[in-house]
Amino acid sequence: GWRVSQSILLLPGDGIGPEIIAEARKVLNVLQRDHALDVTLEEGLIGGAAIDATGEPLPPATVQAAEAAAAILLGAVGGPKWDRIERHLRPERGLLAIRSRLGLFANLRPALLYPQLADASSLKHELVAGLDIMIVRELTGGIYFGEPRGIQTLDGGEREGVNTMRYREAEIERIQRVAFEIARKRGGRLCSVDKANVLEVSELWREVAERVAGDYPDVGLSHMYVDNAAMQLVRAPKQFDVVVTANLFGDILSDCAAMLTGSIGMLPSASLDANGKGLYEPVHGSAPDIAGQGKANPLATILSLAMLLRYTLGRLDLAERLESAVGRVLDRGLRTADIAPAGSTTVTTQEMGDAVVAALST
Ligand code: IPM
Ligand code: MG
Repeated sequence: GWRVSQSILLLPGDGIGPEIIAEARKVLNVLQRDHALDVTLEEGLIGGAAIDATGEPLPPATVQAAEAAAAILLGAVGGPKWDRIERHLRPERGLLAIRSRLGLFANLRPALLYPQLADASSLKHELVAGLDIMIVRELTGGIYFGEPRGIQTLDGGEREGVNTMRYREAEIERIQRVAFEIARKRGGRLCSVDKANVLEVSELWREVAERVAGDYPDVGLSHMYVDNAAMQLVRAPKQFDVVVTANLFGDILSDCAAMLTGSIGMLPSASLDANGKGLYEPVHGSAPDIAGQGKANPLATILSLAMLLRYTLGRLDLAERLESAVGRVLDRGLRTADIAPAGSTTVTTQEMGDAVVAALST
C-alpha cells in the first residue's frame, strides 16, 4: 500500500511568534531527516500578520490549509499595532475563530515544574517541587462565544457591554469526558472548577460532571469554586492532579499555574477536536516588547511540538525523545532571560533552539 505523508501547518503569527516557530521548524527538520518523521510542512498567516497581508485575521486560505492539515503549530498572535482596529478584525479573533472553526474544544495545559528550574518559581521550593498539574480548559464555548454579545447604546445614550456565559449539557459532557480520560491515565484525581454558588451555568456544569463521574468509578471527582481554586493554586498547588474548567476560568487559572513553574515561557498546550486533530501553541502570548531581539524562550513552542507528536501523530517515542532533549539542555545550564537567575548568563532564542537540536542527536 501507499500512504500520503501527513502535513503540519505552521502559523508563526505576530511578535515573537516567527522567532519561536523558526526554532520549532529546525527541530522538525531534524526529526524528518534523522528520525523518520514522515510529515510535510506548510506555512500560513494568522493574526496581525494576516491582517497586514489580507485585511483579516483568519484568511480563507489559512482555514483551508488548517482543515487539510493533520495538526497545526502556532506561535502567538496580537500586538499594539493592531489594538485599535475594529473588534471583530483584531488578531485575537483569528485565534478564537480557528479554535471554533476546527471544533478544538479540549485545551490541555500541563503545568510541569522542571526540577532544574525550581528556583525560577515565585513560590517556595517545597511548595512546587515535583509539581505536575494538567489543566483541561473548555475552549469553544462559554462566555468567549456566548450570544448575545456586544456594546449597545441604551435609551438616554449610556452604553452597556454584554457577554453571555452559556453551556449546553453536551458541551459540558464532552469536556468532562476528556478530563476523566486524562485523570484515569494520571493520578486518578479530577477537580472540576466552577462558580456554582452564584452561576446557574456552573450549577449545570457540576451536575453534568457528577453524572459523567458515574462512568469513571476509578477517578476521584471533587468540585471547587474558582476563587478558591485561584487561592489553592498559590497556597498548595500540589494538591491538584487534573483540573477541568470552563473557557474563561481556564484562561485565568492556566496563566496562574504557568507562573508556578517558573516561567510562562516553558508551557506548551494542545487544543484538540473530537478526533485528536489538534492545534498546538505555547501558553504565552506574542510578547511584542521583546519581539525580534532573540530573547524569547522557544521551549514552550518546542514542547508544544512534543505534544503534537504525542497526541496527533501518535509518535510517543519522538515526543519523549524531544522532551528529554529539552531536559538535558536545561541540565547543561542553558537559560533564556525569562528562566535565568538575575545577573547570570543567558542564551538567545536561536542558541536555545540549536542546543535542543544538538541534544536530539546525542
Ligand atoms: C490564551 C490567550 C487567548 C485566550 C487570547 C490571546 C485570545 O490568552 O490562549 O490563553 O484568551 O484564550
Ligand atoms: Mg490566556
